[in-house]
Amino acid sequence: MKAIAVEPKKTGTAKLMDMPEPDMRDGSILVEAIAVGVCGTDVEIVEGKYGWAPPGQQHLVLGHESLGRVLDPGSSTGFRKGDLVVGIVRRPDPVPCPNCAVGEWDMCRNGLYTERGIKEIHGFMSERWRIEPEYAVKVDPSLGILGVLLEPTTVVTKAMEQIGMIGRRSYWEPRTVLVTGAGPIGLLAALSLKIWGIEEVHVLDRMEAGSKPDLVRALGATYHSGRVADLEFEPDAIIECTGVGQVIADCIHKIGSSGILCLTGVGQGGSIGAGVLADVAAAAVLRNNVIVGSVNANKRQWYRAGLTLAKADRSWLAKLITRREKPENFMSALERKPDDIKVIIQFSEI
Ligand code: BGC
Repeated sequence: MKAIAVEPKKTGTAKLMDMPEPDMRDGSILVEAIAVGVCGTDVEIVEGKYGWAPPGQQHLVLGHESLGRVLDPGSSTGFRKGDLVVGIVRRPDPVPCPNCAVGEWDMCRNGLYTERGIKEIHGFMSERWRIEPEYAVKVDPSLGILGVLLEPTTVVTKAMEQIGMIGRRSYWEPRTVLVTGAGPIGLLAALSLKIWGIEEVHVLDRMEAGSKPDLVRALGATYHSGRVADLEFEPDAIIECTGVGQVIADCIHKIGSSGILCLTGVGQGGSIGAGVLADVAAAAVLRNNVIVGSVNANKRQWYRAGLTLAKADRSWLAKLITRREKPENFMSALERKPDDIKVIIQFSEI
């Protein structure tokens, strides 16, 4: 079968190649790929900056934002031929650390977790893939192709749960939440916040025109372009989705007293002197601020993300998928074009 694979940590090695049919050891459910979303992590892997092949193998099949159709449920109960499923990305470390032992693999303590399409297990960018029943999540069939948005929604769901849990250290009634970055994560965060009942949702992005402002307004949220520093309100919580140093620095200064800044973007570069850091720490101390990082998602968050997507307006969600590419054009799917929000690689019709 055809698969999109890379030799991790080597640039220019990504290719559409022949791979053996998926191994039974990957799971008893056989799935036909429908679509796989592309994100910044895939770009980093293709650029040779991230990613690990399965032990003893040269190639890693890419793809962690999956959507497929069950071809053969095997001996699993609860799944039927034709069901739409998405595969959970992370697997617990084998030790297991206490967090992995209780199913909170997203909070793995020793870094020995594995991730499909990213770290030591093949991903979902192949014509067929297998999955263990306990890591397959059924999606509402009425979502159709939009089910490919489930994985990024889980990332946002975890971030929101983190904020909620931290918030409850004191009286917590968040009214104003800011999302920085109107990419797929930022927009799905704004959608989830609205569905979860947050009154005032603000989204800030550098784009002044295009579909992003309209998408934000269609949710009943407020769109801002420009700098966080220029905003005239102090959010109770911020979900930072850009990973850009200046935006993060501005968020640290802008967050309200007792507010929470949750970082979800992975950027790089820049340095801060110890003096500046002490000032940031002093401000956080005096205002009871929490800055928290959030990555990946556990099964509870996958479940909740599924509920959120099922409640979402389908025509709004459909506008997030701005480009569909064929597997042979995967390199073009990895390129970022100005109007792109979520680009998917479509393996078969739905
Ligand atoms: C994925 C997460 C993963 C993280 C780090 C993200 O792109 O959505 O599931 O944990 O990369 O590898």
